[in-house]
Amino acid sequence: MPNIATLPAPRNAWYVGAWSHEVTEKPLARTILNEKVVLFRDREGKAAALEDRCSHRATPLSLGEVTERGLECGYHGLTFNGDGDCVFIPGQDSIPPQACIRAYPVVERQGFVWLWTGDPERIDDATLIDWPWNDDAENWPVRYGRMHLKCNYMLVMENLMDLTHIPYIHRKTIGGGDQMGQVNAEMITKRTEMGVHYIRWMDGIQPPPTYVKAAGFAEGVKVDRWQEFEYVAPITVLQWTGALENGRGARQNRNQDGGFSLRIYHGATPETDTSCHYYFAINNGCMARSEADNDKLFEEIWNTFLEDIDFVERQQACLETDPERPLVDIKHDSARIHARRKIERMVAAESAMAVAAE
Ligand code: FES
Ligand SMILES: [Fe+2]
Repeated sequence: MPNIATLPAPRNAWYVGAWSHEVTEKPLARTILNEKVVLFRDREGKAAALEDRCSHRATPLSLGEVTERGLECGYHGLTFNGDGDCVFIPGQDSIPPQACIRAYPVVERQGFVWLWTGDPERIDDATLIDWPWNDDAENWPVRYGRMHLKCNYMLVMENLMDLTHIPYIHRKTIGGGDQMGQVNAEMITKRTEMGVHYIRWMDGIQPPPTYVKAAGFAEGVKVDRWQEFEYVAPITVLQWTGALENGRGARQNRNQDGGFSLRIYHGATPETDTSCHYYFAINNGCMARSEADNDKLFEEIWNTFLEDIDFVERQQACLETDPERPLVDIKHDSARIHARRKIERMVAAESAMAVAAE
């Protein structure tokens, strides 16, 4: 059994390297899967990711700057293009092949800068996450967030796979009210090729105050509320939560105007085995919202995440003190267990592949 506190991540996968708006001509240093990476945007506007280490004297390239030719090392001016080729050495015409450095394949779309950390021969574009709502500012205005967390990435994924924590961790915010009603909501779980999917239904309930505020439900109205989450290995959870007035047939069709509707992309890219970068895109699908409403919603969700983070970071610290000690599974852990089994299978398959290749 791999150690929960330090579960490694599979290398042959796409990881969120940054949000698009973070990648500019100013080089950005970020550690991803224990590797030092520099991200930058060249003069043509193309995002690139290289190892953050100059081939000349091992200076971090993130100390350099982008020029017409590419990323120029801040020490003696060696310059690299987005493919990692050394394209310029001051005062010298010939460029030895060993001057080239590692480049990470990059795909930029829908506000994400995705990085492939494994073998370029094994790139699989079909495993890129599709999140089209980031490109639909009219119907799904978005706010982007990122937090640095001192915990293994899977603790973040597992937190989202078990919403029975809401009335406990979030008792002062979104989890107030009917504690057992929320814990006992109907939950339909199914395994998928890349992880696990679940949806929880709460029919004919009183909407929480945040929903009333955002969607403008009438006084005393009852709603059918859903929470849909999907874990897509290795680092993504896709969320769609919302509510429609009871009687509007939410179970048959959730794509109706009005009501409360919120989508959140969650991604936890490992920084090291015991820390990660938590990326989230919050898309507000409620009608009639202003920029100020979107900011307010983002702030509320940010504050809710801070409550989770306090727990998962302390959980990490506790796990590290005795990582081999067994833990107990309970009924509500089923989706979480599927998620962990999926990632453990991926990690095991990759290490078996590495052993076979030796
Ligand atoms: S260390 Fe980069 S150019 Fe010398
Ligand atoms: Fe939470």
